[in-house]
Amino acid sequence: MKFRIKRPDSSTSPFPHPEAPAPDVHTAAPEAAADAPLSAYEIELIRTSVSVVEPLAEEMTVYFYAILFARFPEVRPMFPPGMDAQRGRLLRALLRIVDLVDDPESLVRFCGHLGRDHRKFGTLPAHFPAVGECLLASLARYAGPAWTQEIAAAWAKAYGVVADVMISAAEQDARVRPAVWSATVVHLLRRGHGIAEVTVRPHLPYAYAAGQYVSVETPWYPRQWRYYSPANAPREDGTLTFHIRAVPGGTVSEALVHRAVVGDVLQLGAPMGDMVLEAAAFDDLLCVAGGTGLAPIRALVEEVARRGGRHQVDLFLGARTGAQLYGVDDMLRMSQRHHWLTIRGAVSHEYVPGLRGSLPQVLAEYGPWYQHDVYLSGPVPMVVSARETLTLGGTPPDRIHHDPFETPVLARP
Ligand SMILES: Cc1cc2nc3c(=O)[nH]c(=O)nc-3n(C[C@H](O)[C@H](O)[C@H](O)COP(=O)(O)OP(=O)(O)OC[C@H]3O[C@@H](n4cnc5c(N)ncnc54)[C@H](O)[C@@H]3O)c2cc1C
Ligand code: HEM
Repeated sequence: MKFRIKRPDSSTSPFPHPEAPAPDVHTAAPEAAADAPLSAYEIELIRTSVSVVEPLAEEMTVYFYAILFARFPEVRPMFPPGMDAQRGRLLRALLRIVDLVDDPESLVRFCGHLGRDHRKFGTLPAHFPAVGECLLASLARYAGPAWTQEIAAAWAKAYGVVADVMISAAEQDARVRPAVWSATVVHLLRRGHGIAEVTVRPHLPYAYAAGQYVSVETPWYPRQWRYYSPANAPREDGTLTFHIRAVPGGTVSEALVHRAVVGDVLQLGAPMGDMVLEAAAFDDLLCVAGGTGLAPIRALVEEVARRGGRHQVDLFLGARTGAQLYGVDDMLRMSQRHHWLTIRGAVSHEYVPGLRGSLPQVLAEYGPWYQHDVYLSGPVPMVVSARETLTLGGTPPDRIHHDPFETPVLARP
C-alpha cells in the first residue's frame, strides 16, 4: 500500500481530514473515540508487526527520519538540529499507537494532551499525513515479508484515529491560548552544587497549577525542549521560579545554570502534569523529594498554605550527602510558619546525626502511610523504590502521585 498526501477526501484517505469538524476533546465522552475502534483482529495485526520491527527500532528510527526529512523538507526545521538523544521519542510513541487505540477511555485524554503539546513544535494538520506516510513506509521496509496489505490498512486506521484526536485537541487549544509563552529571566540565584533558581516573568498570563511542569526552550538550543517544574504556587505577579540542576554533559540544564543572565528570554510550552492538589483524596499528604525534585513539592506546600493549611503535610527530603540536602533551610523556615508541615531529612551516603538512610528506608521507619495521598518527586530510582516501599506498606497505588519519568506525553493517565 502506498500513501501519498492527498488534499483531503476522508472517504478514501486513511489519514484524517485536516479540516474535518473537530470533536470536542474536552467534553466528548470516551465512547466518542470508540466510534471507529479497531477490531481485535486489526489490533492483533498491529501488535504482531510491532514485535517484528521492535528489535530493529533503532535502525528504523534513522530510516524514518531520513525519509521524512527527504520527502518533506518543510518539517525539518521543527526538529532539533542534532537529534541523537531524542531521536527515538516520536517513533517510539508511534509504535505504541495500538496501546492508545485499543483503550478508548484514555485515547481522548492522552492523545488530546499529545496534540496540545505538539503545538509548541509548530505541528500543523497537514504534517500528519507526512508522518503517517513515512511511518508506514518504514514499517513496510523493516517488517519485510511479514508486511501485508491487511497490516498496512490496520496501521493506517490506527494512525488516523490517533492523529484525528491530536489535531482536534490542538485546534481547540489554539482557540483559547498561545502555543508558547515568551518569558524573561528576571532573577537568578546560583545555589552551588550546580543548582540555580531561575525566575521568569511570562509576557502573557500563564495559568498553571502548583505541582505541574513546564517545557522550556532556551535561546541557545532552539527546538530542544526540556521539562522543569515551577517551585512556587501561582503568584500574583505571574512569575515562576524553576530549580535547575546542571546535569554533567547536559545541554539545556548547563546553559540555564551557568549561562543564563537576567534579561534572557525563554519560551515556555503549556503546563502539564497531574501531580496537583486536586488529585488528593485524603487530608493527610506525604511528600517525598530528592534533589531538585523538591521544586513541584515546594509549589504544592505553598498551595496548601495558600488554601489555609487544610492538609497535614509530612515532607521527607533526601540526598546522598548532607551538603546536597537541597532546599532544607527554606523548607524548615516554612515549617516554622506552618504548624501543619513537618520536615524530615534522609542522607544515604554520609553519617549525619538524625538523618541516616535512603529515603525509602526512612519512609519505612515512619508511617503508616496508607491513609495519605503521596507525592513523589526526584531521581527515577528514588521514586521507583519509594513507590515500592509505600505500596508494600499498604498505600493504595492510585494514591501515589508522581511525574512521568522520561517522555511525559508517553505516560498513561
Ligand atoms: C516531568 C519532568 C520534570 C522535570 N523537572 C525538573 C526540574 O524541576 N529541575 C531539573 O533540574 N530537572 C528537571 N527535569 C529534568 C530535565 O527535564 C532535563 O532532563 C535535565 O535538565 C537534563 O537536560 P539537559 O538538556 O541538560 O541534558 P540532555 O542534553 O538531555 O542530556 C545530556 C546527558 O545527560 C543525561 N541525563 C539527562 N538527564 C539526566 C539526569 N536527570 N541525571 C543524570 N543524567 C541525565 C542524558 O542521558 C545525556 O546522556 C524534569 C524532567 C521531567 C521529565
Ligand atoms: C500520531 C501522530 C504522532 C504521535 C503519536 C507523536 C508523538 C510524539 C511524541 C510522544 C513525542 C515526544 C514528545 C516529548 O518528549 O515531549 C513527539 C515529539 C515530536 N513530534 Fe510528534 N507525534 C505525532 C505526529 C507528529 C507530527 C505530524 C509532527 C510534525 C511533523 C510531529 C513532530 C514532532 C516533533 C518536532 C517532536 C520533537 C522531537 C524531538 O524533540 O526530538 N509529530 N511526538
